[in-house]
Amino acid sequence: MMLRSMYKFRQLAKNIQFLIESGSWPAHKKLPSLRAQAQSSGYSLMTVLNAYQELEAKGWIYTKQKSGYYVSGDINISPEHTNKVALNTNIEINSLVFDHLKRLQQDHVIPLGSAFPSVPLLCNTHFMKILSQHAKLPNSSLSTDSMPPGSLHLRQILASRYSLNGISTQPEDIVITSGALDALNLSLQALTKPGDFILLQQTIFYGAWQAAERLGLNVITIPEHPEHGFDVNAFESALKNYPIKVCWLMLNAHNPIGFTVSNEIKLVIAELLHRYKVYLIEDDVYQELFYEKQKPLSVKYFDKENYVLHCSSFSKILGAGVRVGWVHSRPFSNAIQHLQLMSTVSASNLMQHALVDFIGTHHYEKHLRQLRLKLQKNKNTYYKLLKEILPKSCKIYLYATGYFLWIQLPINVDSTVLYQHLLDKKIVIAPSILFQQDNLPRNYIRLNCSFNLTEPIKRALYTVVEMIKMLEQNAGADGS
Ligand SMILES: Cc1ncc(COP(=O)(O)O)c(C=O)c1O
Repeated sequence: MMLRSMYKFRQLAKNIQFLIESGSWPAHKKLPSLRAQAQSSGYSLMTVLNAYQELEAKGWIYTKQKSGYYVSGDINISPEHTNKVALNTNIEINSLVFDHLKRLQQDHVIPLGSAFPSVPLLCNTHFMKILSQHAKLPNSSLSTDSMPPGSLHLRQILASRYSLNGISTQPEDIVITSGALDALNLSLQALTKPGDFILLQQTIFYGAWQAAERLGLNVITIPEHPEHGFDVNAFESALKNYPIKVCWLMLNAHNPIGFTVSNEIKLVIAELLHRYKVYLIEDDVYQELFYEKQKPLSVKYFDKENYVLHCSSFSKILGAGVRVGWVHSRPFSNAIQHLQLMSTVSASNLMQHALVDFIGTHHYEKHLRQLRLKLQKNKNTYYKLLKEILPKSCKIYLYATGYFLWIQLPINVDSTVLYQHLLDKKIVIAPSILFQQDNLPRNYIRLNCSFNLTEPIKRALYTVVEMIKMLEQNAGADGS
């Protein structure tokens, strides 16, 4: 008990020290009162007092009588802290994402900014048939026998799929959730308290930023590696220098960029997690949408010490409306179920029963093979067209996975401005500000290429390109 509370105040002191070192809390800034700090961090008053006293003893902060604690004025900030790795506090992205998702729900928009694959590609008649059969059975549709941790049959099937992929798994390792977002959010909530530090890739699915905002977390980011997707040196530097509790990473078919990190790098990531005793929430929701022969491995494959919580779902394979996902983590299974039972409760019983029957058939594998081929075909068609019509000052990132193209616009074109102009034409794209903090260049967009290239979509792509050219020209004329 004694040791645990000692650890807690040191952890809090380290977090505050980092806020000072990184310049987020400048010299002579007043620290939150003991009570306010206790409330926002979830620590006891005594823990906060001990942390403040430790920081004072080390010279990071000083007290003013009857006024409180202040950041010291003469601190040397190590240059290591400004090296590539960045700190992001006070994240505010939820309203932006909310507006974006609402725009996508409007009638008659061309949803090039959607994260979901085209529904006709996902629709499988065998699955629909099984689903309608189950809908008629009271036990499937109305009973609660798939409450947390979820249907035993479904967990058995998922466990054997993991084992076939070289990750020895028992059904007890898996908790079924309401989609991957639920799995990711529950995992992050189980592992953190407000004020903790987490690590994200600089460019990442907005769900990670939203979760950090909701849970009041500080975010350390590392940049993408231009060649390998993942910068191992920046990762190690962040783990070494900052009090990071958890990382949330996408390493297969990264959303929004599309790269898949090599197995060698995944092995190094697992080793670093073990060395620095940091957990990883691995978002592997696109794991089945690879075009090459071999399914890419996950970091979970290399994780012999249970530091990885592996999250995925059926949303990108059978449709986001299925709302069935899972998290694979033996040590946190209980904590996650506790959170589940006071929030999202469980995934639909009906869907879990239908999935058990469908995944067990050869139709499932066939569906996956066909889906991969169609996505690859559509993405290549978009790529060819865009390569031809986009100005040479744009760069298209093409990877052999998924259904996104990440496009670099001319440096003077702000993707948020492009987004606004295109909304008037009922075209929705995804600007980079949905995936990054706004201190980065805004000249990137993500396009969803899963839809068949029909005439209206083709026209929309031409409009996007015309608009980019117009904005580039206007910016050139302004001299900006
Ligand atoms: C990278 C990523 N992770 C997680 C999710 C959430 O998936 P689900 O619909 O299963 O909650 C999405 C959905 O778009 C996603 O793109």
